[in-house]
Amino acid sequence: MIIAIDGPAASGKGTLARRLAAHLGRPHLDTGLLYRAVARAMLDRGEPLENPGRATAVAAALDPDHLGETRLRDREVGEAASVVSAHPGVRDALLAFQIRFASRPGGAVLDGRDIGTVVAPNAQVKLYVTASPEERARRRLRELAAAGEAPAYETVLADLRQRDDRDAGRAAAPLRVAPDAIVIDTTELGPDEAFAQALAIVTDRVGA
Ligand code: DC
Repeated sequence: MIIAIDGPAASGKGTLARRLAAHLGRPHLDTGLLYRAVARAMLDRGEPLENPGRATAVAAALDPDHLGETRLRDREVGEAASVVSAHPGVRDALLAFQIRFASRPGGAVLDGRDIGTVVAPNAQVKLYVTASPEERARRRLRELAAAGEAPAYETVLADLRQRDDRDAGRAAAPLRVAPDAIVIDTTELGPDEAFAQALAIVTDRVGA
């Protein structure tokens, strides 16, 4: 069973995906890390993020099995990942690995922006996890505060809106709700409630 979880930045989809995968005993792939690894390598080498040829070459040379997580979660890397992920060549270079991961015997849980629409259009369960930009900004701010950063709420909100616009506005595999996805709006939900909703949907699908 493939479970595809998409949604905008800081929607809680990653936490939900990890928890579902652990509960169901399935492997989990955070596909954002692939784009973050490309961005990290570009930043480290001083390459211009807007250059599709260089970004595609970096993506093609990536070893997705050995990403590590060092410095991939940084705020600047998330922004840079959003920029490099708009290049069609970058997306193409990372697609086969994601499809292979999704096709593992026994299934898998993948989260990202285009899992239900491009990577695994035949997924048995598609969830689109979202929340209001204001709530997502508050959550992101709490994460950043825990990591010792203290940007202004308005800055975080503006960054998120810009990222939403870029991820949803690009031509290649834009962020959108797959027609057969079920939307979970977590604006008013705690992590346990979101998990309970998601698990009920999965159980319902598996039983069907
Ligand atoms: O989920 P994240 O914040 O780690 O993702 C970072 C960026 O990577 C996101 O802004 C857009 C890109 N991304 C993508 O284009 N497609 C995916 N499946 C996952 C992430």
